[in-house]
Amino acid sequence: MWPARFLLFFCLVVILVVVQRSSGQSVCPGTDNKLSTLSDLDQQYKTLRKFYENCEVVMGNLEITSIERNRNLSFLKSIREVTGYVLVALNQFDYLPLENLRIIRGTKLYEGRYALAIFLNYRRDGQFGLKQLGLKNLTEILNGGVYVDQNKFLCHADTIHWQDIITNSRSELLVVPSNNSGNTCRRCHRSCNGRCWGPQEDQCQSLTKTVCAEQCDGRCFGPYVSNCCHRECAGGCFGPKDTDCFACTNFNDSGACVTQCPQPFVYNPTTFQLEHNPNAKYTYGAFCVKKCPHNFVVDHSSCVRACPSNKMEVEENHIKMCIPCTDICPKMCDGIGTGSLQTAQTVDSSNIEMFVNCTKINGNLIFLITGIKGDMYHGIGALDPERLNVFRNVREITGYLNIQSWPENMTDLGVFSNLVTIGGRTLYSGISLLILKQRWISALKFQSLREISAGNVYMTNNSQLCFYNTVNWTSLFHTSTQRALIKNNRDPRECTQQRMVCDPLCSVAGCWGPGPDQCLSCKYFSRGRTCVKACNLYEG
Ligand SMILES: *[C@@H]1O[C@H](CO)[C@@H](O)[C@H](O)[C@H]1NC(C)=O
Ligand SMILES: *[C@@H]1O[C@H](CO)[C@@H](O)[C@H](O)[C@H]1NC(C)=O
Ligand SMILES: *[C@@H]1O[C@H](CO)[C@@H](O)[C@H](O)[C@H]1NC(C)=O
Ligand SMILES: *[C@@H]1O[C@H](CO)[C@@H](O)[C@H](O)[C@H]1NC(C)=O
Ligand SMILES: *[C@@H]1O[C@H](CO)[C@@H](O)[C@H](O)[C@H]1NC(C)=O
Ligand SMILES: *[C@@H]1O[C@H](CO)[C@@H](O)[C@H](O)[C@H]1NC(C)=O
Ligand SMILES: *[C@@H]1O[C@H](CO)[C@@H](O)[C@H](O)[C@H]1NC(C)=O
Ligand SMILES: *[C@@H]1O[C@H](CO)[C@@H](O)[C@H](O)[C@H]1NC(C)=O
Repeated sequence: MWPARFLLFFCLVVILVVVQRSSGQSVCPGTDNKLSTLSDLDQQYKTLRKFYENCEVVMGNLEITSIERNRNLSFLKSIREVTGYVLVALNQFDYLPLENLRIIRGTKLYEGRYALAIFLNYRRDGQFGLKQLGLKNLTEILNGGVYVDQNKFLCHADTIHWQDIITNSRSELLVVPSNNSGNTCRRCHRSCNGRCWGPQEDQCQSLTKTVCAEQCDGRCFGPYVSNCCHRECAGGCFGPKDTDCFACTNFNDSGACVTQCPQPFVYNPTTFQLEHNPNAKYTYGAFCVKKCPHNFVVDHSSCVRACPSNKMEVEENHIKMCIPCTDICPKMCDGIGTGSLQTAQTVDSSNIEMFVNCTKINGNLIFLITGIKGDMYHGIGALDPERLNVFRNVREITGYLNIQSWPENMTDLGVFSNLVTIGGRTLYSGISLLILKQRWISALKFQSLREISAGNVYMTNNSQLCFYNTVNWTSLFHTSTQRALIKNNRDPRECTQQRMVCDPLCSVAGCWGPGPDQCLSCKYFSRGRTCVKACNLYEG
């Protein structure tokens, strides 16, 4: 059996192996599996191949683990850039053909430290393993360090001038020469000055930083002052211009390396105004693009996979964008008996998580004793009353609200304090709001409820319930056929004796419970939801 995470991983493969081309380069997502691998090594290889075939930019981590000796890895040659880290571990092949990898950005690091980690690449009981790093174009690691250890047969890694590659000189560098390096490794070609990735003439390490004139503040293409690369270049360059870079430190705007992509608004110094920029581009990884790729949304001026939690997705002029939500973001959820909860009978401990952050319930909310107290027969535990607070975000229920059970000692329905509308599009015996035989509830506290669009209200035998009689239910109804069937609750005279009455700041329209925030309308003024005696400008 494979653990569930691998099965999930497989589903992802099917969906994600769509190499995107909108930046002019083919971009693919990386992985986040660390050392966990599939037990089927054939699948492990095929998965790797599917992920990276024809991929030039890995937006994420490149993880090459548990690959057998004689696999054809030449597809890795297409990769030029990795935004996260590169992990090469537990493999048995002898050559790593990442020949065109130019830059590792290290936006994520392995073990929080390494942008490049290469270890345990040999067969324990065999005489083979990784011999050569084919990283001959690697000239830049923007963030993070390098870890190379326990590669029994690896040659030349200890000849590499890693500080020339690593940007941050404080990053951790741990390159342990293999026991092999003194004995059977061939020396670097004599043209390499002792630094190489392999023994051949074309495998010399090309230095682009430590050989520069002092005046260069980054990399260079020769030793003279006139050989400095443009400051936006990463990894090196062919010449001094921003279009001569091997790779870009920040963004690639159609071949030129820039600090930021053309912004949506530009300042016009003659009119002193921000003006719309027709040449604006969005940032997409390290690229500037005119249009975000399919399945990406625009957040401010970037392409993102999904809007952040305080924003919602809208479509404007055929562009999907994230805009800030006023208050909390709308989220529509299935109610009991609808969609994903089609077969559910009641809200219970097994489904309550599905109501997190929901503002609109498409369907009904039903609370039965099997939900509140649990259902031993179906192995469902009691509901933690605290969890009912998930309903505090609900503003609309399109169907009905049916409460036939409620946690012991919970004296109100205040978790519905933001409920504005009960739609009554589906009814329960003609009823859209039902509260039956609840011994603990003394106040409804539906402080936001403004409309019951269809169906009747049925509220009986709630022995402690007060305040219900102060509410003009007709004013909440939408049609003239709706009725309020309210009986056998606590006697209003008893309520008055017990001071279960509306706050004096409420108008005669009534209230949902004690306190000045439960009024249907105010006698004097309201501040936010609360009724106040006088308006004070300084308190709002
Ligand atoms: C490896 O695969 C590539 C295509 O990805 C192919 O061109 C090449 O001939 C293969 N090499 C071997 C040794 O099978
Ligand atoms: C890799 O380096 C070789 C020279 O060593 C160069 O011809 C080739 O263009 C480089 N590849 C990339 C992607 O920069
Ligand atoms: C390398 O040699 C040392 C000492 O000779 C030994 O302890 C270590 O296990 C060897 N490492 C490998 C990977 O064979
Ligand atoms: C910038 O992107 C273009 C494709 O849009 C690519 O051909 C070019 O090599 C990239 N330049 C750098 C410096 O990464
Ligand atoms: C609910 O919203 C919060 C805050 O907006 C967010 O952090 C959280 O991930 C959301 N949870 C779910 C399940 O949507
Ligand atoms: C309800 O309150 C009573 C009296 O305070 C207490 O004995 C009982 O355990 C409470 N029940 C729950 C479910 O908290
Ligand atoms: C409500 O209570 C009354 C009297 O206490 C009882 O006759 C009636 O059957 C109860 N109704 C329901 C629906 O339980
Ligand atoms: C209740 O509200 C309805 C409609 O808003 C109104 O016609 C009726 O007079 C109100 N009843 C009382 C007792 O205020």
